Amino acid sequence: MTASSTPLLQVRSLTRRFGTRTVFERVSFELARGEIVSLVGPSGCGKSTLLRAIAGLDPQSEGAVLLERQLQRGPSDRIGMIFQEPRLLPWLSVADNIAFAAGPHRGHDPRVDALLAEVGLTNVHDVLPKQLSGGMAQRVALARGLFAEPALLLLDEPFSAIDAITRSRLQRVLLALADAHGTTALLVTHDLDEALHLSDRILLLSPAGEDRPSHIAHDIRIDAPRPRDLRDPAMDALRDALLDGMSVGPN
Ligand SMILES: Nc1ncnc2c1ncn2[C@@H]1O[C@H](COP(=O)(O)OP(=O)(O)OP(=O)(O)O)[C@@H](O)[C@H]1O
Ligand SMILES: [Mg+2]
Repeated sequence: MTASSTPLLQVRSLTRRFGTRTVFERVSFELARGEIVSLVGPSGCGKSTLLRAIAGLDPQSEGAVLLERQLQRGPSDRIGMIFQEPRLLPWLSVADNIAFAAGPHRGHDPRVDALLAEVGLTNVHDVLPKQLSGGMAQRVALARGLFAEPALLLLDEPFSAIDAITRSRLQRVLLALADAHGTTALLVTHDLDEALHLSDRILLLSPAGEDRPSHIAHDIRIDAPRPRDLRDPAMDALRDALLDGMSVGPN
C-alpha cells in the first residue's frame, strides 16, 4: 500500500470478552483496497469471532471497524459474508437466494444471471437449493455474497467442506471474482496451502488460552505472482513458519 492510498478496512484495537475470558485483545490491522488476505490460526483462537465483529454482527465486541474511513455501527451491505455452509434459504430458488438482499423474490434481476455465469453455473436459475451439490451451493453462496457489490467480502472457511478438486476450482473462481469486482477479501482458512495460493498477505493469530487472549502474531506479505508454485522453496519456508506459529505460537 502506498502512503497516499486510503486503506479500505481499518480494524482498530478489537477485543472480545466472553464473561471473564478474553478471546482476543487489541487486534489491529488494515486491508488495502483489492487485497486478498488470509486469517489463519489454531482452532479456538477467535477467527470466526473476529470475522463476526468486523461484519458488525457482534455488538459486544470492543474497538472500532472503519470501512472507507467510516465507522461501522452494525451490519452493512458494503460487507458481504460467506460461511462454511452455503446457508441458502431452502424455499427460495437459486436466483431468489442470490438476489435476496434486494427482496425475497427479486431473482429476475439481470445481475443474477451475470453472477451465475461468473461462478460457472448454468441452468440453475429456478432450481431449489436441495437440487444442488455442495460445490454448486457454495458457488451460489459466492454469487449471493457479491450481489450487493460489497467492498469487502469476509469468508469463514468457505471451501473446507468441499472436495479437493472442487475446492481448487472455487479458489480460482474467488480470485477471478475478486479481480473482476475489485473486491477486497478476508478469508479464514485452516488450509495453509489455500492461504499461500490465494493471499497477498497472511495474518496469523496466536493461540488463545483461558487467560491468554490471542493477538496477531505475524503479518506476512506474499509477493510471488499467481498462479503460484507451492513446491517453491520460498513457499516451503513460509509454510513452515506458519505451522510453527499455529502450533506453539511465538509468545
Ligand atoms: N457466544 C459465545 N460464548 C462464549 N464463548 C464463545 C462464544 N463464541 C465463541 N466463544 C469462544 O471463543 C473462542 C473462539 O471461538 P471461534 O469460534 O471464534 O474460534 P475459531 O478460531 O473460529 O475456531 P475454529 O478454527 O475451530 O473455527 C472459543 O473458545 C469459543 O468457545
Ligand atoms: Mg471458526
